[in-house]
Amino acid sequence: MQNMLFRITIKLAFAVIVFLYSLLAGSQAVQAAETVITDSMQQRMQACTVCHGKEGVSTNQGYFPRIAGKPAGYLYNQLINFRDGRRHNLVMSHLLQNMSDAYLQEIALYYSALELPYPPAQSSGLAPTLLEKGKQLVLYGDKARDIPACVACHGEAMTGRMPTTPGLLGLPRDYVVAQIGAWKSGSRKALAPDCMVEVAKRLSTQDIYAVSSWLSSQLVSGTGHAASASKQKTAIACAGDKP
Ligand code: HEC
Ligand code: HEC
Repeated sequence: MQNMLFRITIKLAFAVIVFLYSLLAGSQAVQAAETVITDSMQQRMQACTVCHGKEGVSTNQGYFPRIAGKPAGYLYNQLINFRDGRRHNLVMSHLLQNMSDAYLQEIALYYSALELPYPPAQSSGLAPTLLEKGKQLVLYGDKARDIPACVACHGEAMTGRMPTTPGLLGLPRDYVVAQIGAWKSGSRKALAPDCMVEVAKRLSTQDIYAVSSWLSSQLVSGTGHAASASKQKTAIACAGDKP
């Protein structure tokens, strides 16, 4: 009897060992499979996540722009702008300096296809009058000063317009202030004809602060997808827009 109990115990112990081993081997197999899967664009874009966040989502704090889900044509133009000196950022230019047009196209397509949630709106804590001024400029412009509404080009929902106009939501306020300032001072350029330089020239420092504050305090509703390509309604021509 004792002998039989002993044999059953040994068998059970063996079964447990086999089971545990199979779990371990299984998880190793899964790990191996995962390593193969992640050895892809996601893997190669690891260097970008340090600043742009996991999969390019970023946050609306700090200074790093969200890149996930932006129109591929816009992203591609920015990558060549950094590489070819129309935009200036030491790290960005350095990272991209030896990349071919074809590879930058691949990167742009990768990020534009990512569908990821937007960060919550940034509470501005700013004077309601300043925010109201920003809202007016973004939605309606200012006819007296010949300032077009931002939504005329960036889409009614401010989530961009295909193929080369980016969305204006989910970006840190400081980033938006800096970009409009860079156009005004000539340190950021887009492919010609560069419509944003025309827009930026017409904005005062207070206008820039007002639009950036209002934009960064807005929630993104829905998917955040860019609007489809359409003719824009301003007298200012942009490269990449339908004639
Ligand atoms: C050390 C931080 C850092 C790293 C790493 C980095 N970026 Fe950037 N990136 C920035 C900053 C800062 C800006 C905004 C620069 C400016 O003021 O114009 C930017 C801008 C961009 C833009 C333009 C976004 C827009 O809305 O106009 C794209 C696209 C971009 N980065 C892609 C990448 C890709 C792809 C990688 C990896 C190959 C990468 N970045 C790695 C900091 C970084
Ligand atoms: C005539 C069309 C047009 C109008 C009007 C316009 N934009 Fe733009 N904007 C563009 C285009 C096109 C780009 C992309 C330029 C490039 O390729 O660098 C852009 C880019 C930007 C960017 C850079 C976004 C990023 O991720 O780096 C900001 C910020 C911006 N616009 C803000 C504004 C604001 C604020 C207004 C209203 C006061 C405005 N724009 C009005 C066409 C326009």
